[in-house]
Amino acid sequence: MDRLVTYNNVEIPPFMYGTAWKKDQTARLVELAVDSGFTAIDTANQLIHYQEALVGEALLALAKKGVKRESLFLQTKFTSVSGQDHRTPYDQSADLHTQVQQSFESSRKHLHTDYLDSYVLHGPHSRWGLSQADCDVWAAMEEYYQAGKTTVIGISNVQADQLQELCDKASVKPMIVQNRCYAVMGWDKEVREICKVQGIIYQGFSLLTANQDVLRDPQVWDIAKRVGANPLQVIFRFALQIGMLPLTGTTNEQHMKDDLAVLTQFELSTDDVQKIESIGI
Ligand SMILES: NC(=O)c1ccc[n+]([C@@H]2O[C@H](COP(=O)([O-])OP(=O)(O)OC[C@H]3O[C@@H](n4cnc5c(N)ncnc54)[C@H](OP(=O)(O)O)[C@@H]3O)[C@@H](O)[C@H]2O)c1
Repeated sequence: MDRLVTYNNVEIPPFMYGTAWKKDQTARLVELAVDSGFTAIDTANQLIHYQEALVGEALLALAKKGVKRESLFLQTKFTSVSGQDHRTPYDQSADLHTQVQQSFESSRKHLHTDYLDSYVLHGPHSRWGLSQADCDVWAAMEEYYQAGKTTVIGISNVQADQLQELCDKASVKPMIVQNRCYAVMGWDKEVREICKVQGIIYQGFSLLTANQDVLRDPQVWDIAKRVGANPLQVIFRFALQIGMLPLTGTTNEQHMKDDLAVLTQFELSTDDVQKIESIGI
């Protein structure tokens, strides 16, 4: 498997631990995930789904145990007003540039760090096209990248045409995309194709939860049996082998270990990969 290196030469760990929906268990689970071997953590400055400050608490506890900031890849997101409730980490009446600044600074404080490894636009304002507001937010994020405050910038929940437009218009095109990955959409084939052409790293989430039919498919069970893994591990391994960076949100220590084991424990043949690629389409 190739190392995952962004087009601006930043190496990203191949598997990421996601912190959504962990509520007051966030700190404990992030600590457990790092102790289990994860070195990349995904969060967002959005209290509806994430507890970014509790991710920071875990980082302090880990630092006390000797885990160095540089050994971790920290990714967080700017979420616009439409994706927040009343608890925005910025002044809702401020212009978008100021909102990004306030959200970024708040994330830095939550995570007790001078810099972020990856800063992600949680999603465009609409499902169709890019608005002026999206361009303004992106320009503010580009400033943080140019100033060296984040090594990577990216976008999430993006459609293929939106990603193409962003790549065409941006001064700094995204280095990563983070999307929900449905098998029925060819595992987000259109977006992944653009990523391939543009040299963007594709991060896939809900690989398990969005693809229950695939997990039940007898072909996947046959492959799992043959390689000595379980069907969930087969899906994660498949993701890795097609060049994706998977996220897992597991809350279970053994599952953390099982998920990471797919990096080294077994391989899929080209035939297996092709079979899984065609399931659900
Ligand atoms: N950008 C966005 O808008 C967005 C949206 C959603 C998610 N995300 C990110 O993606 C992360 C992951 O989200 P997700 O939707 O992929 O995952 P998830 O829903 O948080 O969890 C995956 C599910 O798979 C199970 N699981 C994982 N590994 C397993 C294993 N080895 N054996 C059995 N069950 C296993 C987990 O159960 P157990 O807990 O029992 O293991 C959990 O129910 C989030 O935490 C967040 O960081 C981003």
